[in-house]
Amino acid sequence: MAMLSIRNVTKRFGGLVANDNISFDVEQGALFAVIGPNGAGKTTLFNMISGFFAPTSGSVHFDGADITGRPQYQVSEGGLVRTYQLVQLFKDLTVAQNVMAGFHRVTRGGVASALFRPGWMRAQEKHIADKTGELLDFVGLGGRGDMLADKLPYGQQRLLEVARALAAEPKLLLLDEPAAGLNVQETAALADVIERVNQRGVTVLLVEHDMGLVMRVAQRIAVIDFGRKIAEGAPAEIKTHPDVLAAYLGGTEAA
Ligand SMILES: Nc1ncnc2c1ncn2[C@@H]1O[C@H](COP(=O)(O)OP(=O)(O)O)[C@@H](O)[C@H]1O
Ligand SMILES: [Mg+2]
Repeated sequence: MAMLSIRNVTKRFGGLVANDNISFDVEQGALFAVIGPNGAGKTTLFNMISGFFAPTSGSVHFDGADITGRPQYQVSEGGLVRTYQLVQLFKDLTVAQNVMAGFHRVTRGGVASALFRPGWMRAQEKHIADKTGELLDFVGLGGRGDMLADKLPYGQQRLLEVARALAAEPKLLLLDEPAAGLNVQETAALADVIERVNQRGVTVLLVEHDMGLVMRVAQRIAVIDFGRKIAEGAPAEIKTHPDVLAAYLGGTEAA
């Protein structure tokens, strides 16, 4: 079954067609990547999938439901969780607190329960604390929970974002250029974490500019250029696809 199904999605901003009739399926359990040069329309596509704005036309189905045009909070409650192209951490909170902020989808309780702290709530707090430690270990940030998030090196802030996203127990995790600005070692650490996230059973949709990362981790790749899907296939096919080579080599930046 497709976890995510994108059909004929088009997005216009005035006269600009940022996404032009894009279709693809992300199967349950897959690690799927969307690549394309800067300005190709990758983030726009993410914004429509995650409910940041609606497509001009076309549809998005997630986990069996039509989520086209649904608001972001509804989409994320359904288990579709994203990270952003620019790091979006709570800078004044600790590393652990940033992860805890990710649990809102899977926890219950309001102001009253916070005051009276019934048994289930204390159990829930213990669960969150344990789970936070486990997630920090998972991304390689064990022992850093009490640091201010802002003090982490950039590559580790990226990993922290992944840990926070995992706290929400996503069915589908959307990562928007997670390797942007990372050095070679940081990119390798991130690639390893992304692969292990997928091995935990989380379907991953990765948008990336870094071809090396994509070729290493993705099982299937769609390529977009000037808003259009120009190719889709396994990494080996994509690597040698003439239109892909033209888009990357003919553009202003090297792959
Ligand atoms: N909210 C917006 N309003 C107007 N134009 C936008 C908006 N978001 C993106 N665009 C335009 O759509 C095109 C695709 O952008 P984007 O999806 O960010 O590309 P990518 O993520 O592949 O670099 C660009 O020309 C960009 O300027
Ligand atoms: Mg982008």
